Amino acid sequence: MDGEMAVTMPGVVGVIGGGRMGAGIAQVFAAGGATVSVVESDDSAVAAARQRIADGLAKAAERGKLAEEPEVVLGRVTVFADLARLSPNADLVVEAVPERAEAKVDVLTRAESVVSENTVLASNTSSLSIAELGAALRGPGRFLGMHFFNPVPASKLVEVVTAPATRESVTGLVRGWVRALGKTDVVVRDSPGFATSRLGVLLGLEAIRMLEEGVADAKAIDDAMELGYRHPMGPLRSTDLVGLDVRLAIAEHLHSTLGERFAPPKLLRDKVAAGELGRKSGRGFYDWS
Ligand SMILES: NC(=O)c1ccc[n+]([C@@H]2O[C@H](COP(=O)([O-])OP(=O)(O)OC[C@H]3O[C@@H](n4cnc5c(N)ncnc54)[C@H](O)[C@@H]3O)[C@@H](O)[C@H]2O)c1
Repeated sequence: MDGEMAVTMPGVVGVIGGGRMGAGIAQVFAAGGATVSVVESDDSAVAAARQRIADGLAKAAERGKLAEEPEVVLGRVTVFADLARLSPNADLVVEAVPERAEAKVDVLTRAESVVSENTVLASNTSSLSIAELGAALRGPGRFLGMHFFNPVPASKLVEVVTAPATRESVTGLVRGWVRALGKTDVVVRDSPGFATSRLGVLLGLEAIRMLEEGVADAKAIDDAMELGYRHPMGPLRSTDLVGLDVRLAIAEHLHSTLGERFAPPKLLRDKVAAGELGRKSGRGFYDWS
């Protein structure tokens, strides 16, 4: 199957939601040569999204990562607030609106009514069920998860999340597009936490429990994984970067779906309640101020 996969860029891409993730997704597809439309919620969000994409392209150019001038790439990007303006000929429409099922179902069903039958629809959700989101669509076979990582331009991985209804041909197309972006796809069956959150959060929670039990201090635990297992970053430092509140929300979701092993430790709850959210608040398991 890999041998037959066409590693080509989609010609026309729609991105719904131009926030941190959506702007990054728009940037990488446009840099790869696609014509990209970004849908935002209102005029001021349109301006902010356009600025985010322009800033991202400027940064990529500075780092020597753009094959063209940033203005040329930006010329392939249009940002607007009316979802009905999405191109009917889009090869792919990917949504990156906030992590609420109703919001995602709303934009996906509206997009489905605008685009052609051949358009692939995708969600960048980090935790919601692809099967449940897809159930709202007339054609769930064309729908899957494309879980990009933050920051999108620098992250190598995209989890391609397939539901039982997802057509194999659609998965194959998307895997080829991910590779055309210079990224690596891993195909994951729709299940809570996919591969990355499920394993990453479990390791983080156990590290927090070890800290609670006084097994070692934070730096010693992180050093153990960085030096002993060659993890690029220890589980506590990584939790600080992701945000303790974000990790807690994912742990609660996985606790309710996968069971006790994901029960959030008291120390994590206490720190979130005290506003110690990690790097963004200046303190988490480390002092970032
Ligand atoms: N931030 C991360 O590290 C990360 C990583 C992987 C996946 N995700 C997922 O990506 C999605 C987006 O996350 P984010 O961090 O970019 O959020 P964000 O808040 O930065 O961006 C969301 C954007 O969607 C826009 N929006 C809201 N409602 C809309 C609508 N009806 N139509 C069009 N645009 C609308 C908002 O104006 C905002 O710009 C979420 O599902 C999140 O779970 C986030």
